[in-house]
Amino acid sequence: MAHISDLIESDIDAYLLQHQHKSLLRFITCGSVDDGKSTLIGRLLYDSKMIFEDQMAALEADSKRIGTQGGEIDFALLVDGLAAEREQGITIDVAYRFFSTEKRKFIVADTPGHEQYTRNMVTGASTADLAIILVDARKGILTQTRRHSYLVSLIGIKKVVLAVNKMDLVGFDQTVFDTIVRDYRAFAAQVGLDDVTAIPISGLRGDNIASRSDQTPWFDGPVLIEHLENVPLDEEIRQQGPLRLPVQWVNRPDLDFRGFAGQIASGSVRPGDTIRVLPSGKQSKVARIVTYDGDLDLAVAGQSVTLTLEDEIDCSRGDIIASGNPPEVADQFETTIIWMAEEPLLPGRAYWLKIGAKLVSATVTEPKYKVNVNTLEHLAAKALTLNEIGVCNISLDQQIAFDPYKDNVDTGGFILIDRMTNATVGIGLIHFALRRSQNIHWQALDVNKTSRADLKGQKPAILWFTGLSGSGKSTIANLVEKQLYGMGRHTTTLDGDNVRHGLNRDLGFTDADRVENIRRVAEVSKLMVEAGLICLVSFISPFRSERQMARDLVEGAEFLEVFIDTPLAVAEARDVKGLYKKARSGDLKNFTGIDSPYEAPDAAEIHIDTTKTTPEQAADLIIQKLRDRGLIRDGWQGPEI
Ligand code: ADX
Repeated sequence: MAHISDLIESDIDAYLLQHQHKSLLRFITCGSVDDGKSTLIGRLLYDSKMIFEDQMAALEADSKRIGTQGGEIDFALLVDGLAAEREQGITIDVAYRFFSTEKRKFIVADTPGHEQYTRNMVTGASTADLAIILVDARKGILTQTRRHSYLVSLIGIKKVVLAVNKMDLVGFDQTVFDTIVRDYRAFAAQVGLDDVTAIPISGLRGDNIASRSDQTPWFDGPVLIEHLENVPLDEEIRQQGPLRLPVQWVNRPDLDFRGFAGQIASGSVRPGDTIRVLPSGKQSKVARIVTYDGDLDLAVAGQSVTLTLEDEIDCSRGDIIASGNPPEVADQFETTIIWMAEEPLLPGRAYWLKIGAKLVSATVTEPKYKVNVNTLEHLAAKALTLNEIGVCNISLDQQIAFDPYKDNVDTGGFILIDRMTNATVGIGLIHFALRRSQNIHWQALDVNKTSRADLKGQKPAILWFTGLSGSGKSTIANLVEKQLYGMGRHTTTLDGDNVRHGLNRDLGFTDADRVENIRRVAEVSKLMVEAGLICLVSFISPFRSERQMARDLVEGAEFLEVFIDTPLAVAEARDVKGLYKKARSGDLKNFTGIDSPYEAPDAAEIHIDTTKTTPEQAADLIIQKLRDRGLIRDGWQGPEI
């Protein structure tokens, strides 16, 4: 293996050093097996001599046995590693492959072309500098060519190679090539791709891949490898931008040293530079740039460094150290979201949002529209499902520093994470901050939650009853409230059926509506806590995520989850409202426990098994728990003034 270099034999150290300092281009190939994508990648590996001899032997044998080239070498076999792909003739996962030439190293993300693999393509594209869009010369621009180009542009890849493949099958006809290139440029401009280099190739025969083909004398552009070797890297371009250093961690080995470590996302920095820490906005100057190999006079985008500052200012993990035009700070944005999970995105549900090293809680407040990736049409949307792309407003629980994604992919791109499973469920790109978030401030009030509660001689709390319909939530909540009332406590009850007659009368029973139902009720119960009340909430609240969200809205000790545990069979046998009967007969859709899920709590503060406990006993248990927690005191005589 290895490329031909005299240095290997004469001076291996010099060769390795040269290799180590070569620049690295990351690119993605878009197209399907039909367009010859795997063959092209196999050809790149072969022509750059990055194939081991044993691989070559296996390739020759495989080509004879299962190849599609009549016994000739089938380069696609080199690439289509997965057995399932070979059988189905499609590429399934993102595979990263490495090769190198004398001038440069390359990592190619080979992603599947079908629409159901949009998320794989987006993943592969997210770190790429360039995209090769492969077109079959016989077919020209197809729907998938447009879809791939849209995704490439969306994710922020600016440089495209239009590889017009299988030129041998159209007799290397210049008119065919020119027509395809003209059509493509017209479309590409619409999606904002204007840096397009078109090359007529044959991956199978090797025309215009590593060397100039004698079949295309009319073509005077670069051949593919030459172009890949010379195209400017994003990193080089990013070095020109304003300084952005997302702080990965604060290094404080002893009291004398406090360093802020991270990888520079854009720009450059020198000791003495004035910097600003966002979101706090505090200013200081860079004292030192520390690395394992000693201090630096200059560090640029792509380098991982530790900065020390001249002043002791607050700066923690997730903050951004910036200079030049500073990043903006906000907590509400318009974004594009690419949904990557089987479970749909639910507006109103809280997800973790990770941007740089910062982790915050985020909710999609308003999906504006989704995009038909084939036609670029905007469609109405209430939620997003797997592989769908939509423009949505989002709201965070705190302010973050950011740049619009189009200006900086590192400080403007984020991922969404499911709070229960910790899986990455979406990728997002920030467009801009919503102005309303900048114009609404928090009003400080002199009479607060504690003073209001003190007047009532109690501590405010939320008693959150969850369980199936007919489990006994409302019956038990009612008994608890009566006892509290008898003790002179100030309470209120929010009951599912009742609130759905007023505040939530616009909501039904889809997952999305239930999420919104609970979001609103959680916010209202928080207001009740602010009012100093003990608030009893009785909703099925079937999802762990939303119950967690309600819990997170108030202080830890203020939230008590009460699981009214009644087996489905028992609730169904009672069927007080006759709804189970309707659900079983199909007259009522999305009924909890029947055709809509219920996620039982696994760590509720109070667990009532109603098959063993009467409602009265349950109420007594709950009152006792409130006493144990110090939320109610006996013998209260009025406020201490
Ligand atoms: S939740 O799931 O969104 O929390 P909520 O507690 O507000 O539900 O409302 C549940 C009540 O609505 C039930 O007690 C029942 O009376 C009624 N209901 C009507 N349709 C349904 C349904 N499809 N699933 C569950 N409850 C329903």
